Amino acid sequence: MADQQDHSSKSIMYWSIAIAIVLMVALVPLSKLGKGTAGGASAEDADARIAPVAKVALQVASAAAPAGPVDPKATYNGVCAACHASGAAGAPKTGDKAAWAPRIAAGKDTLYKNAIGGKGAMPPKGGSSLSDDDFKKVVDYLVGLSK
Ligand code: HEC
Repeated sequence: MADQQDHSSKSIMYWSIAIAIVLMVALVPLSKLGKGTAGGASAEDADARIAPVAKVALQVASAAAPAGPVDPKATYNGVCAACHASGAAGAPKTGDKAAWAPRIAAGKDTLYKNAIGGKGAMPPKGGSSLSDDDFKKVVDYLVGLSK
């Protein structure tokens, strides 16, 4: 189940990015046509015209670090599941109680510290750009699924 969700949310993300890129490419010549004369549209004009689209593309790409209150489940699915759902790179699998028990036994502070600073193949904060407090909520969510 978790795998399926992960695949579908990923493919939605990839499609959104692909569509945004196509739109960006399509809008550049359109903005030149709109000006009437070939030399009329400066690069800055084109930049200004594609800015909203570029912004959407950026928002899609940074969905892993949404503004506002963190959604631990969405962040887990978007960032952590890449390794923790499958056990990729030697990550302790989500829900694998035996793999998590000794880590949980080391105490929350140790878990937080290792996960924030990075440990073994795990990059600091799992590669996310969350604040420490938000990241801890995602750790709690992941650990909660694995007790
Ligand atoms: C690139 C793969 C990868 C991603 C992405 C990743 N992890 Fe990990 N994580 C690992 C690996 C590998 C370990 C085991 C490290 C070790 O013990 O050597 C680990 C271990 C952990 C641990 C246990 C630390 C300890 O004290 O043993 C926690 C907690 C954790 N990850 C949380 C997260 C959270 C939360 C996210 C998402 C925000 C995340 N990870 C994303 C690979 C990843």
